[in-house]
Amino acid sequence: MCGIVGYIGKNQDVRMGLDVLRRLEYRGYDSAGVAWYSPEKKEIFCLKKAGRIDDLEKLITESNLELKGNPFILHTRWATHGGVTDENAHPHWDCKKEIFSIHNGIIENYRELKEKLLKEGHKFTSETDTEVVCHLIEKYFQGNLEEAVRKALKEVRGTYGLVVIAKKDPGKIVAARLSSPLILGVNQEGILIASDPSAVITHTRQVINLDDNEIAVLKMDNFHILKEKAFVQIDWTPEEAQKGGYPHFMLKEIMEEPETIENAVRGRLLPDEGNVKLGGLALVENRLRGTKKVFLIACGTASYAARAGEYMLEEYTNLSTEVDLASEFRYRKPIIDKSTAGIFISQSGETADTLAAIREMKEKGALTIGITNVVGSSQSRETAAGIYTRSGQEVAVASTKAFIGQLATLAMLTVYLGRQREMSLVMGKRIVSELAKLPDLARKVLSQSSEIEKISQKYKDFKNFWFMGRKYNYPIALEGTLKLKETSYLHAEGVAAGELKHGALALIDENFPTVAICPSDSVYEKMISNIQEIKARKGPILAIATEGNEDIKKIVDDVIYIPKTLEMLTPILATIPLHLLAYYIAVTLGNDVDKPRNLAKSVTVE
Ligand code: AGP
Repeated sequence: MCGIVGYIGKNQDVRMGLDVLRRLEYRGYDSAGVAWYSPEKKEIFCLKKAGRIDDLEKLITESNLELKGNPFILHTRWATHGGVTDENAHPHWDCKKEIFSIHNGIIENYRELKEKLLKEGHKFTSETDTEVVCHLIEKYFQGNLEEAVRKALKEVRGTYGLVVIAKKDPGKIVAARLSSPLILGVNQEGILIASDPSAVITHTRQVINLDDNEIAVLKMDNFHILKEKAFVQIDWTPEEAQKGGYPHFMLKEIMEEPETIENAVRGRLLPDEGNVKLGGLALVENRLRGTKKVFLIACGTASYAARAGEYMLEEYTNLSTEVDLASEFRYRKPIIDKSTAGIFISQSGETADTLAAIREMKEKGALTIGITNVVGSSQSRETAAGIYTRSGQEVAVASTKAFIGQLATLAMLTVYLGRQREMSLVMGKRIVSELAKLPDLARKVLSQSSEIEKISQKYKDFKNFWFMGRKYNYPIALEGTLKLKETSYLHAEGVAAGELKHGALALIDENFPTVAICPSDSVYEKMISNIQEIKARKGPILAIATEGNEDIKKIVDDVIYIPKTLEMLTPILATIPLHLLAYYIAVTLGNDVDKPRNLAKSVTVE
């Protein structure tokens, strides 16, 4: 959703804040704004504009205002309430333009609060929910900002990462959090507050996560929060946050997929015992041994990893397994008890629907396990135990390497739970040794990137696509579909190949290509009959097949080969060409692949 930045400290250069805000632009980018307190003029100045941060920068230059002062707050928006206009951009202010705030989240009861404030004579300048909070703070302000914020938030229902400054209580930033992420980055110079750690790594590696219902008061040389908080060490480098020489973060992150597998398995594989060591599960090892039923729950791309995980767990652990979308799970009435475990998968660890599903599971006494990428994120703190995927920072909105990290982590979890049950030492050893080989096999797939780019040029002018697979690779067909849709804006659908003849086949003709994921596995023959059905209707076919399979060349138009591996691990290799295909088609179509229209990196509202 939105990106929030606040700073108080020795540095009076507000432009420093703009650089930090740019690191958060992937969170939302339809409008931006800045407000800063000028000690000389004892005034708060504010500039905001619909458009990208570049457009705000232009406005700043045209304003001839001196961007000097402290504290300062900045915001990049992903609209939820009120259209994309200059007025609805953040920061918002009160009637006297003395209290300024920026917000990430949704104030659910803003309409009734606004009606009350209008009756009390407040004047509004925007259609947003956030501005209501400004006027509420104004209502309670008697010189002490945090007191006014505390009283105002008592009336607010919803989610917020909120940062406020006030002309009449200068030299202070007050920040409050409920559900939407906020972190503090502290160094000798001062204190940065931001929506996620990636924004502060050029400033400090030591961050503090604000927890729900916490209010932080930041002053020039100190800050206090309600309770003692531990610093978390951020091990990402600023370079990692930059593109590393690639034209786009998406391509950089696809090229990091082999390393992502290496990071996920490093120090966790126990080849001699045919097992894995997952330190984050140590506290719940016995509870997991007694688990009878598993729910895999997530959103978007992470939900496709969950689907692939379902096939793995069912085949190798005999655990009764169910997959669900977090946004649906919350409104279902599944049988859940103490022998149930909920496994929640999220790159950001901040996806609102997934967090709500965790709370639902906990409510019913089930064990909650998080598979998360962002260290210290809400999911990692709200679940009873978990596994970090260690995929490194993922900047591009379209999730690629994090998905690969999730699949590798689910494969390790399968061994962990399988070896607690009937999985043999031999089978355990087989999966563990294959997992150890995967990074090099993935590099082999990536070495074909220029061929895949050539193939993508053949398909870039089609308007509709089928992606089809069976068993482990049905979820990969869904993932390939989502990547193409969200980056190229072309229509694509993922289908379980066996479903084709039940309707989808009606759409097939020479203008409707199919990407068929058909490695040489237990359902290969079935896939070939589905491919024949499409061929018979002149549908163009691009196949993802196992190297050495020369026959397939005779029946399809194009083939991208992946190395041979265990059936349960083929999804990890089969995904890589699909990520590249989507990337190359989207770039050829001239789209902003790192920040696709209408999307955001972590969806922190329902
Ligand atoms: C994937 O490319 C999308 N960005 C989106 O579907 C994403 O997977 C979904 O929002 C879940 O995000 P999470 O993994 O951070 O929870």
